[in-house]
Amino acid sequence: MSDHPKPFQRLLLTGAAGGLGRVLRPHLGQWAEVVRLSDLDGLGQAGPGEEIVHADLADRGAMLRLLDGVDAVLHFGGISVEAGWNAILQANIVGVHHLYEAAHAAGVRRVVFASSNHAIGFHPTTTQLDADSPTRPDGLYGVSKCFGEQLARFYYDRFGLETVCLRIGSAFPQPATRRMMVTYLHYEDLIELIRCSLFAPRVGHTIAYGMSDNDALWWNNSKAAHLGYRPRHSSRVHAHLFPDSAAYPAADDRASQYQGGPFVSTGPFYD
Ligand SMILES: NC(=O)c1ccc[n+]([C@@H]2O[C@H](COP(=O)([O-])OP(=O)(O)OC[C@H]3O[C@@H](n4cnc5c(N)ncnc54)[C@H](O)[C@@H]3O)[C@@H](O)[C@H]2O)c1
Repeated sequence: MSDHPKPFQRLLLTGAAGGLGRVLRPHLGQWAEVVRLSDLDGLGQAGPGEEIVHADLADRGAMLRLLDGVDAVLHFGGISVEAGWNAILQANIVGVHHLYEAAHAAGVRRVVFASSNHAIGFHPTTTQLDADSPTRPDGLYGVSKCFGEQLARFYYDRFGLETVCLRIGSAFPQPATRRMMVTYLHYEDLIELIRCSLFAPRVGHTIAYGMSDNDALWWNNSKAAHLGYRPRHSSRVHAHLFPDSAAYPAADDRASQYQGGPFVSTGPFYD
């Protein structure tokens, strides 16, 4: 046992085998004595201070076991794009309910929930949103994120279990489209946003937009100012990737009229 115990005893990361889970994994040991990594997919060998627990979010018993002994959660597991209804239902709706039920039973102090910009994707790109703007999901995936956000609100109001819902924009190595120049979230800013979400003294139920310091702004994070998040990166360093000076959003491109981009005309799918 160290003379200086880390802030959390056991921090759980779901979705640890996913794109963002693999980015986050190396950074979590600084915050917790034990980092519990979970996914359906392979996670390799446990490193120092790591535990690996495979669990299906849709399996209630497995989730109750997964949360046992955990005091904070980064919930990044589940379906991360528009997909078949049953897959979304099981992983993102039944699964997030299992997560909160098990988190409450385990006495978890705080959850950081990877929500999505697709919870508000049917807002026009001409509108600036804040945390109190109505949700306007752009597909069944977005609807599932709205469910998760509302379940988190219920667990806070009823049980005092705090959650920061991060409406992540586009967390990738660099913007792949002109839309992502607006929604871009640099990986280091994501990690900083998670750090702020874990360590702000009181978060209650907070909605925060996961974006870097980009030039164009659809989202205003003033109502999440208590997190103290200050992005250090911006998509502007990638502007050379999009030299085309054509207007964005473009009048003849429906996807570009809405914040959710191509998701507004994808699906719904029934598996
Ligand atoms: N990457 C982004 O820019 C972005 C944007 C908005 C929101 N998000 C959200 O962040 C989270 C992580 O995103 P990502 O890009 O790493 O996604 P990803 O698809 O790469 O990873 C998700 C992980 O969840 C796991 N998973 C799926 N169903 C499961 C189940 N039933 N039980 C257990 N595990 C299951 C998958 O195996 C996968 O490893 C997701 O919740 C996603 O919706 C990401």
